[in-house]
Amino acid sequence: MSEAFYSHARLYDLMFPGGGPAVDFYRANADRQGGRVLELGCGTGHKLIPIASDGHPCVGLDFSSDMLAEAQRKANGRGVAVEWMQGDMRAFDLGRTFDFVFIAANSLLHLHEAEDLVSCFRSVRRHLAPGAQFVFDVFNPSVRLLAEADGVRRPRASLSFVDPDRGKVSVDVAEIYDAPAQVTRGTWHLSTSCEPDFLVAPLEIRSIFPQELPLLVSLGGLRLVERFGDWSGRPFAVDTPLQLCICESA
Ligand SMILES: C[S@@+](CC[C@H](N)C(=O)[O-])C[C@H]1O[C@@H](n2cnc3c(N)ncnc32)[C@H](O)[C@@H]1O
Repeated sequence: MSEAFYSHARLYDLMFPGGGPAVDFYRANADRQGGRVLELGCGTGHKLIPIASDGHPCVGLDFSSDMLAEAQRKANGRGVAVEWMQGDMRAFDLGRTFDFVFIAANSLLHLHEAEDLVSCFRSVRRHLAPGAQFVFDVFNPSVRLLAEADGVRRPRASLSFVDPDRGKVSVDVAEIYDAPAQVTRGTWHLSTSCEPDFLVAPLEIRSIFPQELPLLVSLGGLRLVERFGDWSGRPFAVDTPLQLCICESA
């Protein structure tokens, strides 16, 4: 249900310019591991292009042809080689193994069914070389914040941006939380002063609660080795923003 959102890669990059501690974290981990790198749900390559520019052989897999085309364009512009592949992280077979596999920026949360998450983890496991590391980051769900999702459309001032073609773009989001499914169902509205709602797209994102996360990982044949709560490496706790998970083959 989020495909339409990712079929506007240029706007995505303007809204989410990337960079920051997440890129530094994944880059440092890829360096520490060494060897071949695979990112699932790689988007426009915010993390993978810097990692490839450090000299690692990289493969990026994503559902969206539009995000991949933008990733390819940016990598070519920077003279960086990455193998971009269209595919579904729920089940994939690349016929080779990797030393570092990662899923960044809540991309995993586009898988809503527990079976899909387990199937993804099983596919990841089949692609791990001996001693390889699998890392992913998802947000730490706050029951209080989820309960505030009342379906009312509100501005997200921090996400507004300037599009060189259109001018200033404002972003409004309306969200409701579907508790039995553990999915926040959002509708994103992008507008300029002369083109209100020039883009309206759904974006749906699951919550993975702290107690279920290690169980899902282990059903996929993996072991959760460490869970950090933020990019500085603080241990995961009730009030940390992230579940930054370091896994290996079980
Ligand atoms: C929030 S973006 C993150 C992009 C990138 N990882 C980053 O850190 O900037 C989520 C990405 O996951 C991709 N995606 C969603 N479901 C997918 C699936 N089942 N298989 C592969 N990619 C998927 C989307 O197309 C989108 O590019």
